Amino acid sequence: MSLRLAILASGNGSNAQAMFDAVERGALDADIRLVLSNRPGARVLERAAAHSLPRRCLDHTLFSDRNAYDRALAEAVHEAGADTVALAGYMRLLSPDFLAAFPGRVLNIHPALLPAFPGVHGAADAAAWGVKLSGCTVHFVSEEMDCGPIIVQACVPALQDEDADALQMRIHHLEHRIYPQALQWLAEKRLSLKGRRVFLAPGGGPLAETPAQAFIWPPLEAGF
Ligand code: GRF
Repeated sequence: MSLRLAILASGNGSNAQAMFDAVERGALDADIRLVLSNRPGARVLERAAAHSLPRRCLDHTLFSDRNAYDRALAEAVHEAGADTVALAGYMRLLSPDFLAAFPGRVLNIHPALLPAFPGVHGAADAAAWGVKLSGCTVHFVSEEMDCGPIIVQACVPALQDEDADALQMRIHHLEHRIYPQALQWLAEKRLSLKGRRVFLAPGGGPLAETPAQAFIWPPLEAGF
């Protein structure tokens, strides 16, 4: 059965775009019920409009506090008929009540190899630290920031002749592959949780090609 997906994003929305594209090419079995931004004028809303997807802006500055905002947010997701929430550059912490409304159904992508370099500047922090390997992580969302169980990670070397922006761009490109894949595993009900560990049931299909200088685990499957 298709995922009934709500995508929450605050800005550019290239990860949201990767989800739209994966749905359109038939790789991701999801019905995108809502694209929501907390920021008026966010580029992600234009992207959603270009694909004629249901979209909404819920401006957080108009709410008295986080709990009031998150109640309205949960209502918007429910009203849209979504049961799964993908955070795609959504720059706000979610309240425990919001997470309790969608147990095990909220995912996030982070531009570093968690648990290293959590926080809003994860990619830049890793580059500035001088790491030799960096990457990105898709994980279930828990109450603490960037701490939930890890579904998939992609790893790339930091090359001597590139700057932080170039490294981030290569990582961003891998985000666009691993996030739709993680959602597809969820759609196929192949993910299960034992404690903090996420287990992926075998799929049996062909695997996708990955760039020579990248390592992704679990491996991506055809279509991603
Ligand atoms: C990505 O780097 C993602 O890992 C982080 O926020 C950024 C969003 O980028 N959580 P975009 O808006 O999807 O282009």
